[in-house]
Amino acid sequence: MKTNKKKKLSGCKDKGSSGRKKLSGCKRAGKTSANFSPRSADMTPKTFFIKTFGCQMNVRDSELIAGNLLSKGYKIVDSPEEADVLLFNTCSVRQHAEDKTWSEIGRYKSRPRSTVHGPLIIGLVGCMAEYHKYGAFKKSEYIDFVCGPNNIAAIPFLIEAAKKTDNKGMAVGQRQRDEFIYNTNFQNTADKSFIVITEGCNNFCSYCVVPLVRGIERSRHHEDILKEIKDLVSKGIKEITLLGQNVNSYISPQSTVHSPQSKVTFIELLKMVNEVEGLESFTFMTSHPKDASTELFKAMARLDKCAKYLHLPIQSGSDRILKLMNRKYTAKEFLNNIDEYKKIVNAKLSTDIIVGFPTESKKDFLATKKLLEMVKFDNAYIFKYSVRAHTQAATLKDDVSLKEKQRRHKILLDLQRKNSKIKK
Ligand code: SAH
Ligand code: SF4
Ligand code: F3S
Repeated sequence: MKTNKKKKLSGCKDKGSSGRKKLSGCKRAGKTSANFSPRSADMTPKTFFIKTFGCQMNVRDSELIAGNLLSKGYKIVDSPEEADVLLFNTCSVRQHAEDKTWSEIGRYKSRPRSTVHGPLIIGLVGCMAEYHKYGAFKKSEYIDFVCGPNNIAAIPFLIEAAKKTDNKGMAVGQRQRDEFIYNTNFQNTADKSFIVITEGCNNFCSYCVVPLVRGIERSRHHEDILKEIKDLVSKGIKEITLLGQNVNSYISPQSTVHSPQSKVTFIELLKMVNEVEGLESFTFMTSHPKDASTELFKAMARLDKCAKYLHLPIQSGSDRILKLMNRKYTAKEFLNNIDEYKKIVNAKLSTDIIVGFPTESKKDFLATKKLLEMVKFDNAYIFKYSVRAHTQAATLKDDVSLKEKQRRHKILLDLQRKNSKIKK
């Protein structure tokens, strides 16, 4: 899944804050502060700004957070300077993503700690919050609370608590989200929307932090998903993207209040989405090569509203590396899958690749390069391996030097640029 550059909720930079004088009396107490010290008795923070990092899942989560806050009387503003509450919805997938966030938060050093409505409140939300938990407060004294992705419904309470006390707030841990959070009615764009169909991931690719921060996979009930889509369509949405870390393994939960015996697979869900009146087109991401089947491709070809585009991350062309990555397919199986896709759907294809995974030799790298030359993806997102603590791959030595990772990264980028041009 590519990281998203579109940030309407959060596109503004922190301009002009440097050089401002810190107001005295607003400095936060440390985590050990036991005193209940009201920070503002009756001044309610009224405005908020969300800066979003990371993938489409986070873009959608920021909308859900915004919708929930708007329903509680907060106002969204266009720049961080106007905000009483600043939320950073963050990504942990690579160290670089984290570094960007820490440096962004660092920019608030010189910002006055008070706003017209009371003290400035800063919340670290999303994957970094879950990854660092209490450790985040040690990294930045400016953070008032941390809130993991599965607990975003708690944000209004965390803000309220932060208003009343200098103690740090925390809402982390794995849980299925309450369904109401998906119905808070805020859209960044008028005609397109992301729809979360699964939360979390069960694949545990050895390099990946996502299962650790988003938890094990949970599918939303298909009736809830369809209701959300219909509501959005009634408000003018024409195109949707169904989101999940591995959408192919979607399975509607059985035995719920909605329909006690239901069991709906991903392909069945696609058929249902195709029938939503007024919806013009839909797509989905991300598919896992081990689960993307001929049946799926047939459904894509048959369903008239399904956009003919597939994102299928290969990660590496070397079977040895794929095994170490715990990807559960070989390069040959991936190529067979793509042949089927081309035969049946014959449409656009993109992928993700990691270079410099531990022990990746020149031969392994050349296998990836060869695969890229053969397949000629319309688009490829190429990443340098980044060690993530607590993952399985973190037990392996990060033995490909940064210089070599950069070299391999550039070779593949140049190759992909050429491929993309040929495709156009
Ligand atoms: N579930 C999706 C998205 C995962 S994150 C999927 O499986 O495709 C998006 C991409 O980030 C991954 O596909 C992978 O290429 C890359 N990525 C994940 N962890 C990484 C790490 N530790 N270092 C470098 N790239 C990583
Ligand atoms: Fe991470 Fe693998 Fe799950 Fe994608 S499928 S989120 S790469 S563990
Ligand atoms: Fe997405 Fe980054 Fe979290 S890729 S799921 S925001 S770690």
